[in-house]
Amino acid sequence: MTTAFEKPDLGRLIASQVPGRSLDQAFYLSPGVFAADTARIFHQDWHLAGHISELPEPGNYLLFDMLGESVIVVRGQDGALHAHANVCRHRGSRLCLEPRGSVKRFTCPYHAWSYEVDGQLFNARQLDAGEDRDALSLKPVAVELFEGLIYVSLSDQPASFAALREELTPHVRPFGMARTKIAHRRTYPVKANWKLLVENYNECYHCSGAHPEFSRSHSIHMTSDRVAPLNDDLQARAAAIGASAVTLDRSTTHAPDGSPDYSYNRYALFDGFQTGSEDGQPVAPLLGDLTGYDGGASDVYVGILNPMLVYCDHAVLYRFVPVDLHHSVQEIIWLVHEDAEEGRDYDLGRLTWLWDVTTEADKRIIEANQEGIGSRYYEPGPLVEMEQYTRRFLETYLARLA
Ligand code: FES
Ligand SMILES: [Fe+2]
Repeated sequence: MTTAFEKPDLGRLIASQVPGRSLDQAFYLSPGVFAADTARIFHQDWHLAGHISELPEPGNYLLFDMLGESVIVVRGQDGALHAHANVCRHRGSRLCLEPRGSVKRFTCPYHAWSYEVDGQLFNARQLDAGEDRDALSLKPVAVELFEGLIYVSLSDQPASFAALREELTPHVRPFGMARTKIAHRRTYPVKANWKLLVENYNECYHCSGAHPEFSRSHSIHMTSDRVAPLNDDLQARAAAIGASAVTLDRSTTHAPDGSPDYSYNRYALFDGFQTGSEDGQPVAPLLGDLTGYDGGASDVYVGILNPMLVYCDHAVLYRFVPVDLHHSVQEIIWLVHEDAEEGRDYDLGRLTWLWDVTTEADKRIIEANQEGIGSRYYEPGPLVEMEQYTRRFLETYLARLA
């Protein structure tokens, strides 16, 4: 590999990208670009870490792990969420080794320093009396709870959730995401750079070919002129059941200053489909305060890495997690109403069928994409109108990297 790949001139590389075309090979193959992605995207943006139902009691914790960083998210004695770097203040051992658990205090497995769940140092055997114990609290990490979803940011100056919270809440609240539980989660390892997962998720140009199961029910794989009348019809049906069908785009240049990107959009399923299921019939009890089915699905983004799709009876959360330059993980979390019981109110196979089969297909096409981009014959190609959100992602990405 050439030096240009190891240590690219980022400024020149970014400036040489042609708007409306896919990116240069270096963005998918260069360790230098991946280092910049890590510093400017992964260490800055917000990441979905989990759902509040995972931490019902004080002392319950979960870990958020990414690229060698580990964050403990824990529910405090006061019920509030705290997040700490999973790094002991003595000589740096990981404190929590299990991905989930429940503690009264955190005790380091190395020399047994212990910490309160709010991060305060509790006990350090033989520590010199002159040491400032307050300065030895666990390092805090930014955490936000939004409609039951837990987000963390590794940034020292994380983007503010204020605008997102104010503007997005009225549209997401009717789905009662804080009153859901995790019915299932599955991890799909993908041999590809993380950007190809996000690019793929953001366009449905590939859907009619790659996803026959999805395309039977979701109108979004059609061009906008064909989808528009269906979405116009959806407005009244959504209003009738208490769902919002506004289109809210706060991404790229539309994002408020100092805010993460966010967006909301509800689109129509085809006639006969009430939700994202194989036969179009409901797969779980209605979410939140909805009074019925409108035949719609809401696409919601918090940051650039955390999309979710919300039907009337379940929600599908996505986590795009980089592993290294050439490997990523896509995790899917299926949420249902907190009172729903498996076997009585939902069948796991019916609930997960659509996005499982769709994500398996995505894994195959994304890996083939990565292989082709690695060829000496690859050169950036033109995006079409149906890839407008992929284009938007690439513009946001380049702006963040610059
Ligand atoms: S590294 Fe944690 S107690 Fe020593
Ligand atoms: Fe896809």
